[in-house]
Amino acid sequence: MSVTASRPLLMDCDTGIDDAVALLYLCQTPGVDLRAVTTVAGNTSAERAALNTLQVLEAAGRTGVPVAAGADATLRGVVNADASFVHGDGGLGGVHLPAPAAAPDPRHAVDLIIDTARKAGGDLHILATAPLTNLALALREEPRLPELVSHVTVMGGAVHHPGNISAVAEANIGNDPEAAALVLAAGWDLTLVPLDVTMRENLTEAHRQRLLATGTPVSRLAGEILDFYFAFHEQTALPFRGSACHDPLAAGIAVGEVTPKLAPRVHVTVDTADGAARGALVADTRGLYRGYPEQPGANAVVVLETDGTFPELLVDRLCQVRK
Ligand code: BDR
Ligand code: CA
Repeated sequence: MSVTASRPLLMDCDTGIDDAVALLYLCQTPGVDLRAVTTVAGNTSAERAALNTLQVLEAAGRTGVPVAAGADATLRGVVNADASFVHGDGGLGGVHLPAPAAAPDPRHAVDLIIDTARKAGGDLHILATAPLTNLALALREEPRLPELVSHVTVMGGAVHHPGNISAVAEANIGNDPEAAALVLAAGWDLTLVPLDVTMRENLTEAHRQRLLATGTPVSRLAGEILDFYFAFHEQTALPFRGSACHDPLAAGIAVGEVTPKLAPRVHVTVDTADGAARGALVADTRGLYRGYPEQPGANAVVVLETDGTFPELLVDRLCQVRK
């Protein structure tokens, strides 16, 4: 497997343990042209996520990537930025890292998204691994954004899988459903990477021990922060000590290293009503038994099956020494 092309990439995230592992993977993957990182409230506040991002990038030896903080509340104005029970105090599993040498970019994340898209001349790929508030605000600010962006890959949603913040809603979509609905309706090329696949690509304690034993700054950091994440998953979601691979899998798909086994293009929207299904993805998968024939009005490629081998590749990559 290899990275398809060095398309300029912007990651919008809420760093977060698995966002951090995804960032480390991107930094370790030759050919990835990471132009900027923007942060949003989700796993922690947008400001904290920006500092976490700088710390992670610096641990990977990557300086000079602008990192800007963005929305600290949803489109409805809800401040909902404490997932410390999942990601630990501060968002990185309670692991203490040196204060970053660089400061966050002074621009608001929305401005950095728009500026980066304009500079990339239509080639920018956006990888979103957090609530979609920044992207929705960027669309409001620059309605031509879909023309300036080549592709958007979003980790989020649950199609034929239970949710993780309610029976049916997944965190990145369900924590700002109005934003997700805007992003899905924007008319750009979009790939969704839902829990259906991210819950089935599992990191294990054996992987974590290999990361720790390898002992490079990157592998050690990944191994240390995953400790808290594994405990959360073992207590709440998985029948073993390990974790899902949410944001890293979306990163692998975004850069073309993971080729989905099943990824139909279908119509997808989000339930924004105030009922039991608020924040659920509504994906029209009625083509299930007919090989998903072409669907008029389809607006997203939804990844429904991958082969389960990404965690091995991820750990190999995190253990590599980059020259
Ligand atoms: C998503 O929610 C966050 O906690 C993770 O970082 C991931 O992006 C999974 O539902
Ligand atoms: Ca995330």
